[in-house]
Amino acid sequence: MISKVNSAAVLGLEAQPVEVEVDISDGLPTLTIVGLPDKAVEESKERVRSAIKNSDAKFPTKRIIVNLAPADLKKEGPAYDLPIAVGILLAHEQISFDPKKVLILGELALNGALRHTNGILPMVSMAKEKGYEEVFLPETNSKEATIIEGIKIIPVKNLKGLIRHLRSEKMIQKKEKFDFDSYFNIEKDFDFDLAYIKGQEHAKRAMEIAASGSHNILMSGPPGSGKTMLAKAFSSILPKMTLDEAVEVTKIYSIAGVLPKNTPLITERPIRSPHHTSSDIALIGGGKWPRPGEISLAHRGVLFLDELPEFPRFVLEVLRQPLEDNTITISRASGSLTFPAKFILIAAQNPCPCGFLTDDSRNCVCSPTQVLHYHKKVSGPLMDRIDLHIEVPRLKYENLASEKVAEESKKVKERVEKARVTQQKRFENSKTITNSEMTSPEMKIHCAIDEESGNLLRTAVNQLGLSARSFNKILKISRTIADLEDSEKIQTKHIAEAIQYRPREKTF
Ligand SMILES: Nc1ncnc2c1ncn2[C@@H]1O[C@H](COP(=O)(O)OP(=O)(O)OP(=O)(O)O)[C@@H](O)[C@H]1O
Ligand SMILES: [Mg+2]
Repeated sequence: MISKVNSAAVLGLEAQPVEVEVDISDGLPTLTIVGLPDKAVEESKERVRSAIKNSDAKFPTKRIIVNLAPADLKKEGPAYDLPIAVGILLAHEQISFDPKKVLILGELALNGALRHTNGILPMVSMAKEKGYEEVFLPETNSKEATIIEGIKIIPVKNLKGLIRHLRSEKMIQKKEKFDFDSYFNIEKDFDFDLAYIKGQEHAKRAMEIAASGSHNILMSGPPGSGKTMLAKAFSSILPKMTLDEAVEVTKIYSIAGVLPKNTPLITERPIRSPHHTSSDIALIGGGKWPRPGEISLAHRGVLFLDELPEFPRFVLEVLRQPLEDNTITISRASGSLTFPAKFILIAAQNPCPCGFLTDDSRNCVCSPTQVLHYHKKVSGPLMDRIDLHIEVPRLKYENLASEKVAEESKKVKERVEKARVTQQKRFENSKTITNSEMTSPEMKIHCAIDEESGNLLRTAVNQLGLSARSFNKILKISRTIADLEDSEKIQTKHIAEAIQYRPREKTF
């Protein structure tokens, strides 16, 4: 007998249908899997055999061939265990059902229980698009799957339960609809609030602009001036994620296998802060079966690189392409995959190895060569890709001892969210979400400036020797500053403020 059940493979962020065909014929009892399986799929033979035996069913003592089609698509991971087991039982006529509109996914334990499986969200999303009606998947993944509406999710605890369901002995209840409200409308208290940070108004203003328009930021200053503290407080002013953004981010976490157990939907913007000893693959993603790296896990959130010059130069250089394209394409022998990587880069650095180059009251003890060597670690092209360059100076005693309470993050966040709403309206019919992602035609429409502003910009470009990229960045930042002021037009003062954030010679 031959049976055919449906499963799926994940490629990058998208899933593709995989047909699991099982043929049982007379001959020596063997189980062979064909169709480019990897080691984990090969090993599924043993798991499936034990799981079937431990689920009150009979493992056929016949010649079994399992074909995973299409044959040219490499299959990885243990998610094919359940479809193979169901296919065998169906071909052996121990169960009977119509598998045409059903997608089956899940890893089996030897006792027949189903384990948490990675990449469920993109697979269910594909099932909905392809018109499947039902999905059988591990119960632990079922909540995550209900994020996709309009498809029946059957949560399977173990193979025995599924067999009884398919034999109509004891039906499994379908999983209820996802309660988005209970996940989205939670006000969270942050450990770090801008109100606790004294002074540094210039840095706080830059952070507000960065959060509003999703611009990158580099903070430079002596040790202990509050750079790390400011970066940590950044999450408290980030706008809430939209549902589309949340689903996109959750898909990445689901594929990477890092979706926290009790969090079916990621509703908070991710903050990733890899250490400077991280490898380039950890940062951008990769491996034999390419997995998303830190930059993709930071998608729609923040990538915080503290002590920027301590990162090896070649590790930082890999950021150049994703910073420009907002995606990362990883090519391996097994194929080429593209992951999204639109994040706000927040970097912090000291101005020199001893840290006091820009400090008026302390002498820097570094030699010019040491300073040069330190700055050479971060290349010019990478610097050029950073929108806002700010100095975070050492605070004077008056600021430190002051009792004045700074503005709370909550208030700043309100302004940021308002600016985001303006951007949402502006880019309603486009893929662009924030000002920093504007394409050239969009810039032409939304970043028009008058003659006076044009003159100011011309002087800045000529005197500061700014690149074409810097020129565009100034316009985009000005757009965000204007949005924060609720001004429809970009004014000269907005341009003037944006120019301030370009790097000055003395910081190098
Ligand atoms: N503006 C500030 N207001 C209140 N406390 C501050 C401020 N700046 C620094 N501090 C205090 O100093 C500590 C050190 O600050 P932080 O770690 O942010 O410095 P840093 O600039 O990152 O230094 P480094 O260059 O050495 O990494 C903070 O934990 C905080 O207690
Ligand atoms: Mg620090």
